[in-house]
Amino acid sequence: RTVYLSGNFCPVEDATISPFDRGFLFAHAAYEVTSVYDGRFIDMEGHLSRLRRTLEGISIPNPYSDEQWAEIHSELVDKNGVEEGLVYLEVTGGAYGMRDFAGPETFSPTVFLYADARPLIGDLAREGIKAITLGDTRWKRRDMKTVQLLSQALAYRAAREAGAETAFMIEDGLVTEAASANAWIVDAEGRLITRELSHSILPGITRAGVASLLAASGLEMVERAFTPEEAASAKEVFTTSSGAIVAPVVALDGKPIGDGKPGPVTRRIQRLYYEAMG
Ligand code: PDD
Repeated sequence: RTVYLSGNFCPVEDATISPFDRGFLFAHAAYEVTSVYDGRFIDMEGHLSRLRRTLEGISIPNPYSDEQWAEIHSELVDKNGVEEGLVYLEVTGGAYGMRDFAGPETFSPTVFLYADARPLIGDLAREGIKAITLGDTRWKRRDMKTVQLLSQALAYRAAREAGAETAFMIEDGLVTEAASANAWIVDAEGRLITRELSHSILPGITRAGVASLLAASGLEMVERAFTPEEAASAKEVFTTSSGAIVAPVVALDGKPIGDGKPGPVTRRIQRLYYEAMG
């Protein structure tokens, strides 16, 4: 596997970073995960503009222009022969040979990217996933895509323990989002409900893509928070993310959603999105 590390493409075995890297010591790093489908990137512009906002929010200078970022992505995908899959990108605050919370005035970032070939539309998209609910223990700036992912890692472990594939995170009696995806429900009137953007959730690129497709499809979208009880009794539930695109949720905390199978509205959203991808 060929990866990209701070200016160079190299075999993954040669890609080493300092143990004093601020990504390692303080989780001081931004990341992005961009889908590749049919050799093309899905909404690269959206990912790069979110990356810019995250970097600004965590005081790391953006090392590259959008054109340079796009070029690195393309070269990486070419070198690894990835037609369908994901590109992972991380920009950290860099390494300074000591553990210093504040760090230097200006950071010299460490940049790492790798490409992963895998089907984006797999069994889980076809058959659906099971979710559990648990408390949202993340920090309060979830609108920035940082590598502070311990809450999510533990949420995935709890889900697996319960025989599920993901977790819906709950705060103040409301669903924030899924462990690495935005959460949606379909109400009795067939409206699509997803939480409004704020510091509490990540502004998903796939969420925005679905929202723009809905406008032309006649389906109504309502941006508001919903409770886990509403999700449990919703007609349909699904998640959106670059990793799994539109994933039907067929059970919540061990109880089926609807008849326990992916529903017609979710199927329609999948078709709309897949058509736009192709
Ligand atoms: N996760 N919410 C959270 C907490 C996420 O981590 C993600 C993405 C999303 C969906 O965002 P997008 O549609 O831009 O992928 C929402 C990525 C895929 C990850 O951590 O692997």
